[in-house]
Amino acid sequence: MNAKFAVITGASAGIGKETAITLASKGYDVILIARRKNRLEVIQQKIQEAGGTCNIFPFDLTKTERISNLVQKIRKVTNKIDVLANIAGSWHNSSRPLFDRNLTELEDQTITAPLDIVKGEILLTKKIIRQMRTNATIINMSGTFSEDDTGWIPDFVAKTGLESFTKMLARELKDSKILVFAIRPYFVWTEAVQKFYPDSENEAMKISKVTKLIMNLIERKTKYRSGEVVEIKP
Ligand SMILES: NC(=O)c1ccc[n+]([C@@H]2O[C@H](COP(=O)([O-])OP(=O)(O)OC[C@H]3O[C@@H](n4cnc5c(N)ncnc54)[C@H](OP(=O)(O)O)[C@@H]3O)[C@@H](O)[C@H]2O)c1
Repeated sequence: MNAKFAVITGASAGIGKETAITLASKGYDVILIARRKNRLEVIQQKIQEAGGTCNIFPFDLTKTERISNLVQKIRKVTNKIDVLANIAGSWHNSSRPLFDRNLTELEDQTITAPLDIVKGEILLTKKIIRQMRTNATIINMSGTFSEDDTGWIPDFVAKTGLESFTKMLARELKDSKILVFAIRPYFVWTEAVQKFYPDSENEAMKISKVTKLIMNLIERKTKYRSGEVVEIKP
């Protein structure tokens, strides 16, 4: 039987990491992308010990001029991609989240990072799309923003852009069987949420709820149509 391949960005932590492990457990050969090599190596080892196949490509998606080079490396692994999960995002740095930090307070790099990641993911999608199998799926990870919140400008602008990308790409792909979805999760009990919002466990969703939705979208077990932004709450 032909192997199935999945490319996952943001695979070193949280939702991306669990998505990678879930896809590997379902028989996908997974290709993991994130900056932190040491973390990717640990996840690779875990997947391999469980009998899976995993390639890692430590890469900074904001370095958009190097995306072609990344895609060449992916091509050496496979020419047939079944899943592209664009999960990387930048909603915090190592010391605090963007929440409650006005635009004027933010360092320039903190403002540009979320936007540049989306640029990187759009270019990655563009360069991978011709390698995608007929029934492939593209998942783009957005986010939920409360109307009362302030301080999320870079992330909000990036994620609404990613949602628009999802809708427009689905239109371009309407005559193909490649489906594209965005997921807009509410709070998820990831390690970053545990670090910054330790008291929010009751409010937050388990990561498995998000990975289950991802699998259902990939396996065509939902009512959602290509281009939809799927909101998911606890
Ligand atoms: N957690 C939540 O409650 C929640 C809610 C709604 C939406 N989301 C979205 O879900 C996604 C995952 O969030 P999370 O909380 O699970 O993860 P996270 O702990 O914030 O990790 C983000 C992931 O993106 C990667 N990443 C960040 N900057 C990158 C860059 N420049 N190049 C390549 N990879 C980069 C990180 O890896 P490296 O640092 O190793 O590069 C990491 O794997 C994000 O897009 C986030 O906006 C999360």
